[in-house]
Amino acid sequence: MTGSSRIFPALAVATVLTITTSLPAHAAWGSRKKAAELAGAALYRDKGCAHCHGADGSGTRKAPPLKDIRKKKEWTPDKMTHQILNGGRKMPPFADSLTDQEVAQVIAYLRAKHKPVPPPASEAAAATE
Ligand code: HEC
Repeated sequence: MTGSSRIFPALAVATVLTITTSLPAHAAWGSRKKAAELAGAALYRDKGCAHCHGADGSGTRKAPPLKDIRKKKEWTPDKMTHQILNGGRKMPPFADSLTDQEVAQVIAYLRAKHKPVPPPASEAAAATE
């Protein structure tokens, strides 16, 4: 038995401990609210909202900005739901293309203080720009 073979198990234990303790301790971060905001961010991008309202919500010639809508008291979640489901003068209705849950997710995203960035867009979504 050489010295090194006795040291090895100790090293292995130390390594395992290091890896385990450095794993993100905050799995709880994936709260429901954050998950809804993230899902909403992907929907906002993929369902055409970004096409008119801008990728970052700062508006385009086609539609007003939505970025700071959380600060506009008149835009309650109910009113936003109504706008999204029924559309407006120049906005198409989304009642047929979004489920109630998806509408709620998009609104969670629009109302989020720190807007999450969804994983990279599909080619299809990019092509509609
Ligand atoms: C074809 C362009 C277009 C698309 C696509 C579109 N919107 Fe709009 N949106 C508008 C326009 C234009 C307005 C201004 C009011 C109107 O004319 O309906 C508006 C208004 C809004 C408003 C009210 C804010 C305000 O200040 O008037 C919200 C909320 C909104 N849109 C959310 C969305 C969401 C969420 C989506 C995607 C599910 C979306 N819009 C897709 C054009 C669009």
